[in-house]
Amino acid sequence: MINEIKQRALQEINQVNNLKELDDFYRKYIGKKGEITKILRSLKDLSERERKEKGELTNKIKKEIINLINSKKLKFANDLNHQKTSWIDVTAPGLLPSQGYPHPISLVQEKIEESFQSMGFSVIEGPEIETEHYNFDALNIPKNHPARDAWDTFWIKNFDLLLRTHTSPMQARYMEKNNPPLRIIVPGKCFRHEATDSSHDVQFYQLEGLMVGKNISMANFKGVIEAFLKDFFGSKLKMRLRPGYFPFTEPSFEVDIKREKGGWLEIMGAGMVHPNVFKSVGYLPGKLQGFAFGIGIDRLAMLKYKIDDIRMFYSNDLRFLKQF
Ligand code: FA5
Repeated sequence: MINEIKQRALQEINQVNNLKELDDFYRKYIGKKGEITKILRSLKDLSERERKEKGELTNKIKKEIINLINSKKLKFANDLNHQKTSWIDVTAPGLLPSQGYPHPISLVQEKIEESFQSMGFSVIEGPEIETEHYNFDALNIPKNHPARDAWDTFWIKNFDLLLRTHTSPMQARYMEKNNPPLRIIVPGKCFRHEATDSSHDVQFYQLEGLMVGKNISMANFKGVIEAFLKDFFGSKLKMRLRPGYFPFTEPSFEVDIKREKGGWLEIMGAGMVHPNVFKSVGYLPGKLQGFAFGIGIDRLAMLKYKIDDIRMFYSNDLRFLKQF
């Protein structure tokens, strides 16, 4: 009889197609009231020899049936895994949409603004398309002045306009409308028609600074710039002032910062505001003094993030941009 049960079970398991049927199958043979269980229970009424013989055989068959059930379970689990790709699990956490990041130049610009604001400077913006007057004439650079060659200019044909080559035009625009004492910074995009290299691009960002009052001196300039650089880099970097030439400042100088690896990197031009600039905006000559500077924002970003080619900022390479 026990062998007949085994044969039947072997056939029936092939007809089992889901977990519910497998459960029924289990109950029919192995469960509390299952056929195999019944046989095992009835053993106690047999003689010792019969009990041993029948007991061994029944237990062996019970094991075989349980093995069949387990392999069927495994098969169902595998099938389920295969199907899973086409299932929608409504409890699964959603996919995060990809996010934008601030550009490193924007990050640096923000940081510079905060730093100067904490020293009492106001942030002013100006036009990227300028007139020849503000970009050059008001800054003591008349037509045919050789210094104009220092700023290779993108001219806007037929309109007598240009893309500003520096943020300095805002010195004149601001002073025309405001009286001293004043303290401003002007961040913004500038353009130059020049060959690119690792520290020059045709577009870049500058930050103009201007402080004018009765007794503003070179010492004030040095103090402000040193405080700013310390705040910006978090530590004191080696800085040097070189004599320079700008028609709108006298004396003029350039400021360089020592790179961690490699040599010096020029970060700004600066100087004491030239009396002719005060004159061109209608200030009374002789009464005022002030300093002005133009920092390359890209150059500061290069130093801060240890980037050795300015063109990376404008390459739109996401692998580069995602690092900030
Ligand atoms: C000027 O543009 C002056 N207007 C700066 C100034 C302002 C002087 C006020 C005195 C008073 P210069 O051409 O050196 O100067 O440029 C200033 C800074 O802008 C440079 O030190 C550099 O950091 C940055 N810069 C200039 N040209 C480029 C360029 N092509 N690409 C990236 N950065 C540049």
